Amino acid sequence: MNDIDINSSPPTDEPDRQYHYMAKCKSLLAEKSLHLGRPLTMCVQTFGCQMNAHDSEKIIAVLERVGYLSVDTEDADLVLYNTCTVRENANERVYGRLGNLKRLKKNHPDKLVALCGCMMQEAKVVATIQTQYPWVDVVFGTHNIYKLAELLHDRLLSGEPIIDVWDHAEGIVEDLPVERKYPFKAGVNVTYGCDNYCSYCIVPYVRGRERSRALDDVVREIRTQVADGVVEVMLLGQNVNSYGKNLPSPTTFAKLLKEIERIDGLKRIRFMTSHPKDLSDDLIQVMGESKKVCKHLHLPLQSGSSRILQLMNRRYGKEDYLSLVERIRSTVPDISLTTDVIVGFPGETEEDFLETLDVVEKVRFDGAFTFQYSVRTGTPAADMEGRIGESVMKERFDRLLSLVNRIAAEECGRHEGRVMEVLVESVNQKEAGYVTGRLDNNSLVHLPGDESLIGKIVDVLLRESRGFYYLGERR
Ligand code: SAH
Ligand code: SF4
Ligand code: F3S
Repeated sequence: MNDIDINSSPPTDEPDRQYHYMAKCKSLLAEKSLHLGRPLTMCVQTFGCQMNAHDSEKIIAVLERVGYLSVDTEDADLVLYNTCTVRENANERVYGRLGNLKRLKKNHPDKLVALCGCMMQEAKVVATIQTQYPWVDVVFGTHNIYKLAELLHDRLLSGEPIIDVWDHAEGIVEDLPVERKYPFKAGVNVTYGCDNYCSYCIVPYVRGRERSRALDDVVREIRTQVADGVVEVMLLGQNVNSYGKNLPSPTTFAKLLKEIERIDGLKRIRFMTSHPKDLSDDLIQVMGESKKVCKHLHLPLQSGSSRILQLMNRRYGKEDYLSLVERIRSTVPDISLTTDVIVGFPGETEEDFLETLDVVEKVRFDGAFTFQYSVRTGTPAADMEGRIGESVMKERFDRLLSLVNRIAAEECGRHEGRVMEVLVESVNQKEAGYVTGRLDNNSLVHLPGDESLIGKIVDVLLRESRGFYYLGERR
């Protein structure tokens, strides 16, 4: 970046254009920092899913390159919220926190506040920001994250708020920097957007149509990461199982996995999320044969009632889901299954809800994220009849949660007494002399050890299950 001539006119091609703006921001901010006599700080907060978190890693990489030092506190010189809008409470959290930022900004007039992510793709949100939070400095969406350096530059030069939200993506920009949170594991986008239009879900509207990255680009990124010390990758997409369908030379997720498997030095491959309607027998086969694909599948159920599933536009029924689980378990014995469930979808009756409990009992998930249905404006379900009242919603939610928790606690202990591989991730914060890692099925394990084990895969005797984690020791 140091050999970029910031006085020349900016290149039109990406990503070169952004590297040019990064160099320009760096010089502007260096002046500020010199004036203040201290480094400038930034605080990036993620509100959403793993894809949102991975976007934050890209954002942090750009901000570090232009000279900001990452801190955890919101008294930073730049605070950026990467927002989520999948349920209304995600939006409420953002508005709540903005009130606090306003106070901080009053005492620190030079402070910059930036908002991005899924919530910003909604016109009504941007309108609210403009009228009620006009002091926000930069607003951008999910389709132009790669332009952050240019937007920041424009804000620094003009002193005016910059709002730039696109309603659709213009191609995929490769080769921008990424700052990994962990040196040994990395997220990797395989698809962007979603074409499934589940009737309750806002994601297709805020993330755009589904786009797959070219297979070579994905493999090349992972090779670079592995050369840099990564041993585990998490492939990310709203529905990874439809990967490759729309590429100029179509391919499949199963083929992508086989290519990734061949990368020397890579030890573990994870992916999320899988849509049951697109999970192919080829993929099950690859999971059964692979030495690297983790024995864990997150397979959102959403509801156990075929009638509700149809209203949800999920394109599978209760029996399809159960038979899929059976096929997976017969080919990949001992696989851990986790899921997402929504209660209180419009029109859900007690009978429908009992079907959901029935699937939970039959499948015996290792874990489940449970949600109360949240109305998303603009989605088909928002106009459906039969909204479920708060008390029924809450009562069903509690029943589901206690069932899910009871089964998960029983299932999670089933490897007690075995020796299994653990990827050590961090020093244990609560117990001195302990580290924490994960089995390939994603269960947590605490074991005696120190920092030197971080990023290593070690054999561990799982001595005792404590419900949601194991206590173990090295073998
Ligand atoms: N693409 C993923 C899910 C992404 S959103 C998939 O299809 O599995 C994560 C989860 O949020 C969903 O699985 C769903 O359970 C939940 N969710 C999405 N929209 C919701 C809404 N309007 N109300 C409540 N939960 C919702
Ligand atoms: Fe939403 Fe359905 Fe797409 Fe998942 S598959 S992101 S639930 S529309
Ligand atoms: Fe939320 Fe956007 Fe993810 S709405 S769940 S951050 S794709």
